[in-house]
Amino acid sequence: MDPSLAALDHTGTQPRPLIDPFARAITYLRVSVTDRCDFRCVYCMAEHMTFLPKADLLSLEELDRLCSAFIAKGVNKLRLTGGEPLVRRGIMTLVASLSRHLASGTLKELTLTTNGSQLARYADELKAHGVKRINVSLDTLDAEKFRAITRWGDLGKVLAGIDAAQAAGLKVKINAVALRGVNEDEIERLLTWAHGRGMDLTVIEVMPLGDIEEARLDQYLPLSMVRARLSERFTLEDIDYRTGGPARYVRVKETGGRLGFITPMTHNFCESCNRVRITCTGTLYMCLGQEDAADLRAPLRASESNDLLNGAIDEAITRKPKGHDFVIDRRHRAPALARHMSVTGG
Ligand SMILES: C[S@@+](CC[C@H](N)C(=O)[O-])C[C@H]1O[C@@H](n2cnc3c(N)ncnc32)[C@H](O)[C@@H]1O
Ligand code: SF4
Repeated sequence: MDPSLAALDHTGTQPRPLIDPFARAITYLRVSVTDRCDFRCVYCMAEHMTFLPKADLLSLEELDRLCSAFIAKGVNKLRLTGGEPLVRRGIMTLVASLSRHLASGTLKELTLTTNGSQLARYADELKAHGVKRINVSLDTLDAEKFRAITRWGDLGKVLAGIDAAQAAGLKVKINAVALRGVNEDEIERLLTWAHGRGMDLTVIEVMPLGDIEEARLDQYLPLSMVRARLSERFTLEDIDYRTGGPARYVRVKETGGRLGFITPMTHNFCESCNRVRITCTGTLYMCLGQEDAADLRAPLRASESNDLLNGAIDEAITRKPKGHDFVIDRRHRAPALARHMSVTGG
């Protein structure tokens, strides 16, 4: 399709690009396609989670329409996440239909963040629909520890999924959450393993999202400590490689691979924020670290034309805040935000 045609919305008018009050262009949309998951990672979910009633969820067609409205407004990078995106029934239908925007050139990248458990099944299809890179979350290579972190997960299945993804020609990046006393002595091993297989590794600080029935402060490990520890063994060279996300990268001289740091707690990563997030019920969050949100499901369902929807998106972007205020509440040990990461998808 002619890209100029693809940019036209349902009414035939050219939708306005998304520029927030701090002159940041919004070009990156993360979409949580389900709040459900086949794991229960200790930093992400409580063991006994209450999930949304299925009737509240946007249908795959509605998710497509919503994503397409953002793409028409200049979003050129789309990440599917969750919960676990690959447990949403029919998810490949959505990937297949969104791939038309890759073909037209309006979307530069369609990608996903996954726990890897279903990758062996879907890797080939993802590749066939134009997905080039994926992020797989993996915090340890020790099967018992993996089970303890994810409560329900099977490491063997995830490793088989990573094998399948690489065999299908997908570029894989590994994301690991740094957890005090859990995997802090294993980051070196993860790094050598990932780089040995040609995969970048990104380490992430635990963020205080959602009640997880465990104490956040006990989990929190500042990445400055991870970096200091790695520097004893590796030479970390700063590079300006960016993927459009919040990670800052170094090159590890000894392995030749890249190592990313996502440090929402120790370093303010908001100044170059180009992202917004939508949940599986069509709520738009302008910032991962703030409660302010806009309901897009009502305007989406109110009319077949996108006028109302586009108006709601424009209005919401005027409310995008300058940054987040994550603080782990030391006195009450309460989450900074009640919402779980599985709602907005990280
Ligand atoms: C919510 S998951 C959704 C996608 C998929 N289920 C997965 O695990 O990759 C996205 C990412 O958020 C991370 N995450 C979840 N809760 C977090 C928290 N409280 N702080 C930091 N990262 C978190 C996960 O480790 C994962 O890399
Ligand atoms: S981090 Fe991902 S895999 Fe783990 S419970 Fe959350 S959504 Fe599921």
